[in-house]
Amino acid sequence: MLAIDIPRPGGAGVLVPVVRPIPPLARDEILILVEAAGVNRPDVLQRRGLYPPPPGASTIPGLEVAGSVVGTGDGVSRFSVGERVCALVASGGYAEYCVAHEGHALRIPQGFGAVEAAALPETFFTVWANVFQRGRLAAGETVLVHGGCSGIGTAAILLCKAFGAAVVATAGSEAKRAACLALGANLAIDHRTQDFVEETLAFTGGRGADVIVDIVGGDYVVRNYRAAAVEGRIIQIGLMGGRVRELDLMPMLSKRLTHTGSTLRTRSVADKARIASELERDVWPLLEAGKLRPLIDGTFPLEEAARAHARMESGAHVGKIVLTTGAGRGD
Ligand SMILES: NC(=O)c1ccc[n+]([C@@H]2O[C@H](COP(=O)([O-])OP(=O)(O)OC[C@H]3O[C@@H](n4cnc5c(N)ncnc54)[C@H](OP(=O)(O)O)[C@@H]3O)[C@@H](O)[C@H]2O)c1
Repeated sequence: MLAIDIPRPGGAGVLVPVVRPIPPLARDEILILVEAAGVNRPDVLQRRGLYPPPPGASTIPGLEVAGSVVGTGDGVSRFSVGERVCALVASGGYAEYCVAHEGHALRIPQGFGAVEAAALPETFFTVWANVFQRGRLAAGETVLVHGGCSGIGTAAILLCKAFGAAVVATAGSEAKRAACLALGANLAIDHRTQDFVEETLAFTGGRGADVIVDIVGGDYVVRNYRAAAVEGRIIQIGLMGGRVRELDLMPMLSKRLTHTGSTLRTRSVADKARIASELERDVWPLLEAGKLRPLIDGTFPLEEAARAHARMESGAHVGKIVLTTGAGRGD
């Protein structure tokens, strides 16, 4: 099969098409003929040598795929050959075939093509696990979503709105601010020209945000503490703005804040399956009813994964970037 390899850490240009054996099926796994594979920022980190795949996982990058089931391992009960699925995978998505644990796969929602379906797993699993399971976001609360036009941010805006929260989003340009509003955000803040602390406090009448979804870290941490409401929950999903050397924790005490975070890839098989079953129960019906659709920035052929990474690193994209295979394009 055609796949994309990372022969050495480096810039987008190190991603090269290679021919690899079709991966073998293990117990409880399905083999997927991949039509589309989502691109995520952790893939960029992996390419740079900063986010290695877990021990035993494929070195081929890619955390999510959509396509059809062409093989089932012993013990598989949820899917049969021929069914169309999207799946979360620990690696191996940038390829024409990919294996996934059956518990981490979901049927492609009715009315969805492979490209839209491939854009779901990584961000929807991450947002669900962090914002709803860990952050306990409730209807009527206010959530502040940083990086509102990122893959994670667009999924967070969509899901938080769908479950009845008021959404404040930050983004890095006027066009991105408009995109956040079009996705349903109640307020969008241009973080280059506006202070998100002041704007969030003004929006909430001085109360602050009940939940903050942060992919930035760095100097945002102390500002998040100022933008949070009493009993606020701050969810650290990424550290794109760097780590924190020193931090005044007094606001955490006085506001009784909870600051938590997690990475999806390192979670157990059972954890990921639990997230999948909650998504299937609570979110899939909304997708199938046409109430939620992931925002797609654009697609690239699998062979041109390097161009897809360059697009992501330019920061110009809004929403998800997706790779398509020959099977997906009908070649
Ligand atoms: N914890 C988990 O399980 C998990 C899972 C998936 C992803 N992540 C993390 O979530 C983050 C977003 O991933 P993604 O795939 O959604 O990314 P993405 O689509 O590439 O979006 C990244 C966006 O973040 C904004 N940004 C804010 N501060 C930035 C900075 N200092 N440097 C560069 N960009 C900055 C930029 O938008 P503006 O121009 O609008 O500022 C940029 O376009 C990454 O840190 C990723 O590692 C975590």
